[in-house]
Amino acid sequence: MSFPVHRKRRLRVSESMRRLVREHHLEPSQFILPLFVVPGEGVRKPISSMPGNFQLSIDELVKECEKAHALGIGGIILFGIPDSKDESASGAYADDGIVQQALRAIRRAVPKLLLITDVCNCEYTSHGHCGKIVGGDVDNDATLEWLAASAVSHARAGADIVAPSDMMDGRVAAIRAALDKNGFQKIAILAYAAKFASAFYGPFREAAESAPQFGDRRSYQMDPANAREAMHEMDLDFEEGADMLMVKPAMPYLDLIRQAYDRFPVPIAAYQVSGEFSMLMAAVERGWLEYERAMFETLISIHRAGASIILTYFACDAARLLA
Ligand code: PBG
Repeated sequence: MSFPVHRKRRLRVSESMRRLVREHHLEPSQFILPLFVVPGEGVRKPISSMPGNFQLSIDELVKECEKAHALGIGGIILFGIPDSKDESASGAYADDGIVQQALRAIRRAVPKLLLITDVCNCEYTSHGHCGKIVGGDVDNDATLEWLAASAVSHARAGADIVAPSDMMDGRVAAIRAALDKNGFQKIAILAYAAKFASAFYGPFREAAESAPQFGDRRSYQMDPANAREAMHEMDLDFEEGADMLMVKPAMPYLDLIRQAYDRFPVPIAAYQVSGEFSMLMAAVERGWLEYERAMFETLISIHRAGASIILTYFACDAARLLA
């Protein structure tokens, strides 16, 4: 039986009706806000390619965290920009590194805010690559030690969740073992499991001052053409003990978010990355897109695809508008 018995428009007649039959909903608790921390005091330096986002010194960062917490968002993910960089990314795993100091300060001021850290080396190496360079390439196994040490130092400083974003093989197992050995059995791992070598990280590299000084990241991040390989990456991270799995970027990879949701019995996260944010903002600034509607449409699409957790630069604004 079809038309005229079936009329799909009956359930769209009014906002009350549309609200009743709505299949998916967004809540502030699903959003994770990325924040960038720099040394100094009173620093609030705008990131030109990401309107409304700043490099923040710890005092300013704490204020931002208080605001974010009051809005009820799920948590924050921290990225650090150290004073100085070196060949061995020592700032990444130093106990008094910028992220470690920031974690302690936030923990004191906003004890209940969920704190996630990005575990990677690219912001800390002088060459901007995500690991140790041996013979012109990132050496996988040597890099695992840095990652494990970073994760432990973040846990020690108060992180609730560590999120490795480097795409080395075996990092989840290495991090799990190091956390457990140091008594951090309760610290969860959110693996950037399927992370692609994407053009959409452009604005982030300005924000985090982490662009590679030579070559690119294609020998460790994934080829955007590969979907089955993405599932294999996720299988491996899941087997190694990841508590949650992430797909990154989000909107160009909605198919993979859906596949991951169908395949793994753990929460699926998606990172709506800097380029996804900036292109929307640029169109809004030109009057080509309506800000609120376009923002919520991207967020609901990512959620509908299967992500229960969304890392997004819209986190606070979306939470405010949902309240
Ligand atoms: C670190 C890292 C990157 C992003 C998150 N963690 C950059 C990269 O891999 O080059 C990108 C986030 C964004 O674009 O918003 N490896």
